[in-house]
Amino acid sequence: MPLRDAAARAEALRRQIEQHNHAYYVLDAPTIPDAEYDRLFRELQALETDHPALITADSPTQRVGGKPLPGFAPVRHAVPMLSIRTETDTEPSGARAFDARVRRELELAEADPDVDYAAELKFDGLAINLRYEDGVLVQAATRGDGETGEDVTQNIRTVRRIPLRLAGNAPQVLEVRGEAFMSRPDFERYNEGQRALGLPTLVNPRNGAAGSIRQLDPALAARRPLSFYAYGLGETRGWELPATHSDVLGTLAAFGLPVCEHRQVVQGAEGLIAFHARMREMRDGLTFDIDGVVYKVDSLALQQRLGFVTREPRWAVAHKYPAQEALTTVEAIEVQLGRTGAITPVARLAPVFVGGVTVTNATLHNEAEARRKDVRIGDTVVVRRAGDVIPEVVSVVLDKRPMKDLFGGEPLHPAFELPKACPVCGSAVERPEDEAIARCTGGLFCPAQRKQALLHFAGRRAMDIEGLGDRIVEQLVDNAIVKTPADLYKLGLLAIVSLERLAEKSAANILAAIEKSKTTTLARFIFALGIRNVGEATAKDLARHFGNLDALMAADLDRLQQVPDVGPVVAASVARFFAEPHNIEVIEQLRAAGVNWPEGEALATVSSPIAGKTFVLTGTLPTLTRDEAKDMIEGLGGKVVGSVSKKTDYVVAGAEAGSKLDKAQALGVTILDETQFRELISS
Ligand code: IVH
Repeated sequence: MPLRDAAARAEALRRQIEQHNHAYYVLDAPTIPDAEYDRLFRELQALETDHPALITADSPTQRVGGKPLPGFAPVRHAVPMLSIRTETDTEPSGARAFDARVRRELELAEADPDVDYAAELKFDGLAINLRYEDGVLVQAATRGDGETGEDVTQNIRTVRRIPLRLAGNAPQVLEVRGEAFMSRPDFERYNEGQRALGLPTLVNPRNGAAGSIRQLDPALAARRPLSFYAYGLGETRGWELPATHSDVLGTLAAFGLPVCEHRQVVQGAEGLIAFHARMREMRDGLTFDIDGVVYKVDSLALQQRLGFVTREPRWAVAHKYPAQEALTTVEAIEVQLGRTGAITPVARLAPVFVGGVTVTNATLHNEAEARRKDVRIGDTVVVRRAGDVIPEVVSVVLDKRPMKDLFGGEPLHPAFELPKACPVCGSAVERPEDEAIARCTGGLFCPAQRKQALLHFAGRRAMDIEGLGDRIVEQLVDNAIVKTPADLYKLGLLAIVSLERLAEKSAANILAAIEKSKTTTLARFIFALGIRNVGEATAKDLARHFGNLDALMAADLDRLQQVPDVGPVVAASVARFFAEPHNIEVIEQLRAAGVNWPEGEALATVSSPIAGKTFVLTGTLPTLTRDEAKDMIEGLGGKVVGSVSKKTDYVVAGAEAGSKLDKAQALGVTILDETQFRELISS
């Protein structure tokens, strides 16, 4: 490349890298994946190597790590905190190259025995130096630029795993180096909480850890729990060093420091390769992120002979795994239906290899988060896949957003909006004001929710259809034999026998179970409908209160809330369910198919004359208080409301009844005095 072009490119790279440094180190909110950052950094390094004249004093290649934050006191490290060389070749050849280098430096002949290596995990967090004096933790510092870090003692003290006092016979000075990180469960829990509140989420556990440690308020830091693993030493005084690194770690563990159990002393390149492969298998199952493994020459004497090149030891290397974050582009944004009707926006991606698999979809979690991240079609995005967690879009690279014209202006694609109707069944999509998740209101009618709904319907505590399990429901729905629970009652032997691997005998048993389930109770039936927020207990309350299904179906929010233990949330769920015509249709079909229950079942043995009837109480009754009258009415499945309308069945009037009595007379509503009321309820 001609010098002039190289100079322009180097300048552009420097600007970009500095921006990314700021986002990463100061804002704890990186905008590109590490691998992409590394690529830019290496490109700049290569340009500067080819054209040393281009190196400037302020080039990002001329400093290591981040500047100390102004809010923390600087700490000068007694022994510099170095980094290790990274082997980006993720194949076995990466381990062979390291072993070959070590052997060359040690001038070992081919016939000489294998070198012993301490192999351990490369934790993905923030390097921390813990200083113990006479066994007491006196200071914790970040790495900073390697020479000077930040004093983060207060925040580190909130990390439960780090002992404030060492066990046993502690040396006069012991500096322990290790990684502070956020475990995946802690990360997920924190983000779940943030999502539920509609607040910004952490991009990944590493940034969660960095943000927590460099949080100026230790109370806030404590809200983001961290873990820690020790992997090395800084300054020591009054301590005779063990002979090997593995023994150093063993001793640190004996002092009560957390040391990761996944470490091993292995022999030669083949030992390294086997460890790399074994840990890669384990990677997804770990509770924390690793981005590779670390190999260290085990003998401290050999480490000393090997020494350092610039700021990196010759005796250690980090051998990477495929990155857990990668860049790709968004081809479409669609919504996916969960089993309970939860609607999740999902980005369809240009296939990308991340976290060891090819990813083509990533979750955007919910509408608020999709909007906050402002992901649009055509966007270049950072995708993360770590562990068994569903791949997610963590951020958008705004610089690369397609625009309508070259001069900035408007984005080519509009902001994401959740559809108003369910893409599967067309029912309304609703999101309760205080919830983050939008849901399809289609319930039983929506095919995406059918299987789950059918299994619930057939459940032991619902309609109790024995034998109608996962596998059969799956096939019934996939083959479009059953769409709604009502279809179950139309099944013939032929249809069931045609299912895979089902003997005629079992098919007949299922049919018999379906037939038997027709006779049920109102409470079971209500529960079987799978109304959101209506569990078994609520279903019983509703059945007892209303006594018959029609009264329940007709009930408005007011009436519903008069049921004991039914608050606004449950009442709204019930009302919403019965407002959906599809649901009514299914219920009518079930009744037509012969599903039945004793009416007014809830009223014990007495069938109540006032079940489902609406009462208004007005004036002062001779002997009953208003509450007593109300209890009697409700106990018999009736309902008391506050004002008279055409729908009112009875007005019970006492002395000094006012306008309510007038209105009842005007509307022709039956008016009772206390005696007549008592006669009615005991009839
Ligand atoms: S040893 C002189 N061991 O990776 C060697 N580092 O550049 C010092 N890291 O920021 C590092 N796991 O925080 C070592 N098992 C491990 C590690 C580890 C993670 C981090 C460390 C440093 C970077 C290496």
